[in-house]
Amino acid sequence: MSNIISYEERLKNFSWKAAEEELEYKEGNVINIGWYCSDRICNMGKADKTALIWENMAGVERKYSYNDLRLTTNTVGNFLRELGIKNEDRVCLFMDKIPELYIGLLGVLKIGAIAQPLFSAFGDESLFVRLDNAETTAVITQKKHAPKIRKIMNRLPNLKHLIIVDHDPAKPLGPGEVVLDLHTMPWVDELEIFPTKAESPSVLHYTSGTTGQPKGVKHVHYSLISQYLTTKWVLDIQDDDIYWCTADPGWVTGTSYGIIGGFATGATSCVMDVGFSADAWYKFIEKHKVTMWYSAPTAIRSLMKAGADVVKKYKLTSLRHLASVGEPLNSEAVVWSEKVFGKAFHDTYWQTETGSIMICNFPGMKIKPGSMGKPFPGIEACVLDTETFEPLTESGKIGLIGFKPGWPAMMRTYWRNEATYQNKFKNGWYLPGDRSSIDNEGYYWFVGRDDDVINTGGHLVSPFEVESALLENEMVAESAVVSKPDDINMEVVKAFVTLNPGFEGNKDTELIIMNFIRKKLSPLAMPQEIEFVPNLPKTRSGKIMRRILKAKEWGEEIGDTSTLEDD
Ligand code: WT7
Repeated sequence: MSNIISYEERLKNFSWKAAEEELEYKEGNVINIGWYCSDRICNMGKADKTALIWENMAGVERKYSYNDLRLTTNTVGNFLRELGIKNEDRVCLFMDKIPELYIGLLGVLKIGAIAQPLFSAFGDESLFVRLDNAETTAVITQKKHAPKIRKIMNRLPNLKHLIIVDHDPAKPLGPGEVVLDLHTMPWVDELEIFPTKAESPSVLHYTSGTTGQPKGVKHVHYSLISQYLTTKWVLDIQDDDIYWCTADPGWVTGTSYGIIGGFATGATSCVMDVGFSADAWYKFIEKHKVTMWYSAPTAIRSLMKAGADVVKKYKLTSLRHLASVGEPLNSEAVVWSEKVFGKAFHDTYWQTETGSIMICNFPGMKIKPGSMGKPFPGIEACVLDTETFEPLTESGKIGLIGFKPGWPAMMRTYWRNEATYQNKFKNGWYLPGDRSSIDNEGYYWFVGRDDDVINTGGHLVSPFEVESALLENEMVAESAVVSKPDDINMEVVKAFVTLNPGFEGNKDTELIIMNFIRKKLSPLAMPQEIEFVPNLPKTRSGKIMRRILKAKEWGEEIGDTSTLEDD
């Protein structure tokens, strides 16, 4: 059994200082996430403990001890430094879930550079806007993904180095290309860790908003304090845990908890670089005796669809604690997991900007299926009136979620976009942009987003980004992108398009446009459907009203259309 301390106990006299003390950090001292995740664990006598177990599609398995993690991250840090990379330079990690991604991120942090992980399925336009905005100096990637970077490199004057982790020595290297092969090069024992402080930038994650280009969310090394504590208290990671966070480090869950939380607590983390299949997932849990499993509602719904019989084929008794994040976890999924695994998935709520878990079903707390749980100790939360931004006191009332700024992992700004960052605050509260209610026992119930961002399978898609890609096609005159309902992904992307004169909206046209945008976007952002329409609903000032199109897709009341353009 676990040594769970109740939520109420944890709330009493809560202070982030206790976590600082546990990590032997004192205000003003050096704090470096890369060091905390490897050297410190070795110094605690766990150098030989397995840090990472990795497996790929072909069943190839690799294990890294904490000492291996220390040495390989040193090697990456040393290599980058010799290349001329300095502290605060942006280094992008553009890889599948291979060990080099996990090691690379920590290596970047060790020399004080800023790690910019980008999802390896991104197309060249999605990549370009993010590398351009961050003025990225170097990209670490695999040979299979290098062509996407080569294609845009000449438009990125700041991008000096393309670092390939698995280069075939028989092939020539292009300009600016270098090889960092951890399998063949000697590992470095001594690396001078850059003396980052609490406020030194660490990770830059790009997230999608409704308008404008994706925003770079800037995190700092002090984020470790919340990431460490929430990993221990919410994910309930203990020393002997075998921890599997299914998220890709291209997204924040995959870094905050898939890399930092697991390693900083000295647990053994598992990574599976395989697409989804119920059999493969259960086999992985059985084989590695996974004890703590952090996943997402879409995956859970897919497991539900695969059925309870598949579960019975595997021995999953190692599982001790389950948690979920990314989108609403429907009550059916909680009830189902309790039935088939004997353990309920504990919903957690947070976002790229918050850096760590904010609202959660604390281990040992009574779970109300469908509720996100209660604020993590040290997080002051409320729901606010949508007009006055005053906290609502009446239980059950729907308002905007608000957090009192100041927890350690909170973003520090949007990269080169301070104005948008400032806009996230109202009346002294940080607004994550979601609506919720709070019941009379203090549990939060998610209602929906307060903007047009689409959450498909736990991944945020900006309608603006998809619309921009569509508009680049010569046939497209106007476009509006909204969500439509889906059993598994909850929401999927749908595009409405008007065509330029001379073009006809039919299946062939749809296919041509789909192929055109596929190269630019990530598969996650791809519309499931394009509907051709003669015109789009607009406000009198000419703004496209996605709300109207969305309401139709969801079979909802259209609401106030008084600002609709006259025909
Ligand atoms: C948005 C953040 C950090 C998690 C990965 C996604 C939605 C997140 C929940 C939940 C309902 C949720 C919100 C949030 N979301 N968790 N438990 N229940 N909705 O990070 O890409 O920054 O997305 O995902 O809308 O704002 P992200």
